[in-house]
Amino acid sequence: MSTLLFYNFKGGVGKTTISVLAADYFSRSGKKVLLIDLDAQASATLFFKNSYGDITPKRSLFNSLQKESLQPSICHLDKNLDLIPGDWDMSLWNQSLEKLPQHDRNLVLKEFISPLKEKYDFIILDVPPTLSTLVNNAVLASDYIVLVLQTQSSSYEGVLRTAQYLSQLRNDYDANFKLLGIVLYLVSKRANSDTSIADEARKTFGEAIFANSIYHRERVKRWANEGLTHKQNDVHDSRTHEMYTLFFKELLYRIGDEK
Ligand SMILES: Nc1ncnc2c1ncn2[C@@H]1O[C@H](COP(=O)(O)OP(=O)(O)OP(=O)(O)O)[C@@H](O)[C@H]1O
Ligand SMILES: [Mg+2]
Repeated sequence: MSTLLFYNFKGGVGKTTISVLAADYFSRSGKKVLLIDLDAQASATLFFKNSYGDITPKRSLFNSLQKESLQPSICHLDKNLDLIPGDWDMSLWNQSLEKLPQHDRNLVLKEFISPLKEKYDFIILDVPPTLSTLVNNAVLASDYIVLVLQTQSSSYEGVLRTAQYLSQLRNDYDANFKLLGIVLYLVSKRANSDTSIADEARKTFGEAIFANSIYHRERVKRWANEGLTHKQNDVHDSRTHEMYTLFFKELLYRIGDEK
């Protein structure tokens, strides 16, 4: 019922990892989830391939977007988990939208997603780190957006500008997506400096900052390369899942879906 987007136009801030782990967590919690990989780099798809093996849709996402339905692009991965894989041909999508009138070209994805919404509790969109027609489509198809702030690399000003950009789009299209807040991705090796960065961000953005942050964990890299695992008696697995789970629970709470 809800479409969710983790966004920052800066690259490499952990958006895809959060999207994939959110899809994993929500589906394991009994929610029906579809992740749509809109990124031509297809890193979310690669992550899932490393976990579930080969994933080939009947029709590529790009080809489905030229037709009338996304259905032939949906791949079933697990009990409650579906994926529309990313593919290099999505790099052609921005250009192909240009033939549409200015206003309509940003609303294509929303139209395509609309009939799928009744089938899923969550549709998660993973986008490339750009400001583009593709991202406009993802924003306008979303119900909830979370900004990801990697405090070492992106400036606060960048987040403010992104928030302004989103509210401009909301006004122009009379859209009603909700900005749920900002999640911090703290990559510092030293706990002290993490705390001061988080404090600083809280002073600037107040309640908008999620109480639960994401920290650098080597285990995430292993999951990305070798597949996602949930080994009960492996502390690295359980601690890393626990960290993301705390954030996802807070996200559900902010949506009003906490149980
Ligand atoms: N919590 C984490 N701990 C350690 N490494 C991480 C963590 N989150 C993400 N990474 C790694 O950082 C790199 C970038 O992450 P990811 O691909 O999720 O970012 P992104 O914002 O989606 O990047 P892009 O903008 O290129 O799409 C990847 O190699 C990923 O495995
Ligand atoms: Mg990504």
